[in-house]
Amino acid sequence: MNQPVLAVEDLRVRLRTPRGPADVVNGLSYTVGAGETVAVVGESGSGKSVSVLALLGLLPARVATVTGTARLQGEDLLAMSPDRLREVRGPGAGMVFQDPMTSLNPVLTIGRQLVEGIRAHGDVSKPAARARAADLLREVGLPDPDRALDRYPHELSGGMRQRVVIAIALSNSPSLLIADEATTALDVTVQAQIIDLVEKLQDEHGTGVIWITHDLGVVAGIADRVLVMYGGRCVEDGTVDDVLERPAHPYTRGLLGSLPDLAAPVGPDGEVPELTAVPGLPPPPTDLPPGCVFWPRCPVRSDPRCEDEQPPLAIVSRAAAGAGATASGTTVSGATPSGAHEGDRAHLPHRAATWCAEGTSGTGSPAVAGTSGTGSPSGGAR
Ligand SMILES: Nc1ncnc2c1ncn2[C@@H]1O[C@H](COP(=O)(O)OP(=O)(O)OP(=O)(O)O)[C@@H](O)[C@H]1O
Ligand code: SF4
Ligand SMILES: [Mg+2]
Repeated sequence: MNQPVLAVEDLRVRLRTPRGPADVVNGLSYTVGAGETVAVVGESGSGKSVSVLALLGLLPARVATVTGTARLQGEDLLAMSPDRLREVRGPGAGMVFQDPMTSLNPVLTIGRQLVEGIRAHGDVSKPAARARAADLLREVGLPDPDRALDRYPHELSGGMRQRVVIAIALSNSPSLLIADEATTALDVTVQAQIIDLVEKLQDEHGTGVIWITHDLGVVAGIADRVLVMYGGRCVEDGTVDDVLERPAHPYTRGLLGSLPDLAAPVGPDGEVPELTAVPGLPPPPTDLPPGCVFWPRCPVRSDPRCEDEQPPLAIVSRAAAGAGATASGTTVSGATPSGAHEGDRAHLPHRAATWCAEGTSGTGSPAVAGTSGTGSPSGGAR
């Protein structure tokens, strides 16, 4: 593979809290290639937002200790001076935050915020920047963009503000776009419009995308690869087909099993298959278990090492055929990868941090031991 847009290596974040140190991100390593979309999924509190805020130096230094490396086009974001980071945010890395109000200045008009962002990173006249700003607002589906430029954030609805934030993030055609629940608050038509826009940006500029979401339907539609987080760790990653069709970690299976499977047969009296939930709650980051982070909730824990030893992220299979192909020859609905990486896909490993998938390396279909009672790997995400 060519040099990735982003290469994160052993990212760790410890926060100072009144209850003691909280290890919220614990050794995250992944890459995002040019034009590739990596979806990050996981329960609330698993460290998704903190892990990306750490990349851009957006965690308060007095409470957060961040270690590891995160090379954006070869340059380590975590070792950059604050001034260099400010330069890089925008054209290097654009971010859409979970809460749009945190990234909009309430006392400046939308137009001023967009125009300033465009002009800060390029030699553009004010009128040209304003015209570009109006175009961007049009592209994110904001009605009457010329008027919207003169409005303040509080004059717009939540969904409109979110679209403005997306427009700002896209305005400098960044090499890396981080979208944290960017479209969750938007209706499906606007969501589809934004996704199209991001894909266009990827095609034109090779933008790498990190897409954080709870919506596995969106993941199936846009992601090339998926990273599943639990307790601040990556417990599974792989191509979208591997992770959604052949999940190897019991947590991923539980996550997929908690979704309705629209393709499942309906019973004679109209009954539909029951959804399975992952019982229990994630561990607090101030008190992580010493062994497998999923151990307290794992329905299949059986290996003597589970309680005391952290399972490493190990390869369970290599991506099989091309885009959309699965072991059974079927295709994940809507899972057309947006990146042009079919040539690379044959080498992409499918990894999971669990003792129970051991010994399956090299097989196309990891036989996870004792998975009865967990969600069907093919359930949901459709
Ligand atoms: N400023 C902070 N101070 C203390 N703890 C924090 C802070 N920000 C986040 N945390 C803790 O860090 C952990 C990870 O939080 P994070 O916001 O990254 O979760 P998330 O996976 O993005 O969840 P969600 O899906 O709800 O957005 C949580 O336990 C959270 O309580
Ligand atoms: S390592 Fe053990 S506790 Fe962890 S997910 Fe696998 S079986 Fe469950
Ligand atoms: Mg979050």
